[in-house]
Amino acid sequence: MHALVTGAGQRVGRAIAVDLARRGFDVAVHYRHSRTGADQTVAACHEAGGEAFAVAGDLSKAEDCRAVVDAVRARWDTLDLLVHNASTFEARPFEEIGLEHWEQMMSLHVRAPMLITQGLLPLLRAGGCTQGRAPGEGGVVVHIGDIGADRPLAGYTAYSVSKAALVMLMKCMAVELAPAVRSVGISPGQVMWPPDYDEAKRVRLAGRIPMGRVGSPEDIAKLVSFVAMEAPYLNGVILPVDGGLSARY
Ligand SMILES: NC(=O)c1ccc[n+]([C@@H]2O[C@H](COP(=O)([O-])OP(=O)(O)OC[C@H]3O[C@@H](n4cnc5c(N)ncnc54)[C@H](OP(=O)(O)O)[C@@H]3O)[C@@H](O)[C@H]2O)c1
Repeated sequence: MHALVTGAGQRVGRAIAVDLARRGFDVAVHYRHSRTGADQTVAACHEAGGEAFAVAGDLSKAEDCRAVVDAVRARWDTLDLLVHNASTFEARPFEEIGLEHWEQMMSLHVRAPMLITQGLLPLLRAGGCTQGRAPGEGGVVVHIGDIGADRPLAGYTAYSVSKAALVMLMKCMAVELAPAVRSVGISPGQVMWPPDYDEAKRVRLAGRIPMGRVGSPEDIAKLVSFVAMEAPYLNGVILPVDGGLSARY
């Protein structure tokens, strides 16, 4: 089984890649700047029992999206799972949103998943890793969103709008690419703190989560594997993993 995980040089992407390797996937570990981190992810995948290789690219650039597609196509004829995880969580007061910031968010969170899925579609159509479906019946695309896609966080307009557009892209793919290729979204709540959140902010935010604690990257990784391998009728939905945060008033 073959999987491409974008933004897998650290944090949640790494947890997804390593969990997939543990379950028998060979993994293409995409990164942008985290070369050392990507090498560590590749090593951890090997340790977990899977083959892995690193592939670089700034996915806000269309030509880099094509290069990532080409690197995967050069290695594999089939792709069973594609995980759109790469992201930039960046605040910008509304008055200060410039064209560059807006386009960065839209190109990374919306255009890149579209271009990469499009480029790898023949491989996805020839893939398949879900129980109850024969290999070759079709692979899965998993989009990592954010509960902030429909509950905006003040100061993060471009991020929230782009993640909301990713949800629609996920649904469009689910409608147009099925039955061969399934498309599913996972929206994390708080599973890993942004480095710039201080202790007081962390305590305040964690206090709002009905489960009484933040989640973990492994919570996301386990659901990615479940969606890909064990949920053949799941298509066109977004699954929150947030300890109940999005359910509260
Ligand atoms: N952490 C949370 O609690 C949380 C909450 C809600 C949603 N999410 C979502 O879950 C996913 C993973 O979260 P995370 O916190 O692990 O993400 P993250 O650390 O913010 O970003 C993951 C990776 O995305 C890559 N990336 C950023 N800009 C890129 C670009 N222009 N081109 C290519 N790659 C780029 C970075 O790669 P390099 O390091 O190699 O540059 C980075 O390591 C994201 O989609 C995020 O929106 C996370």
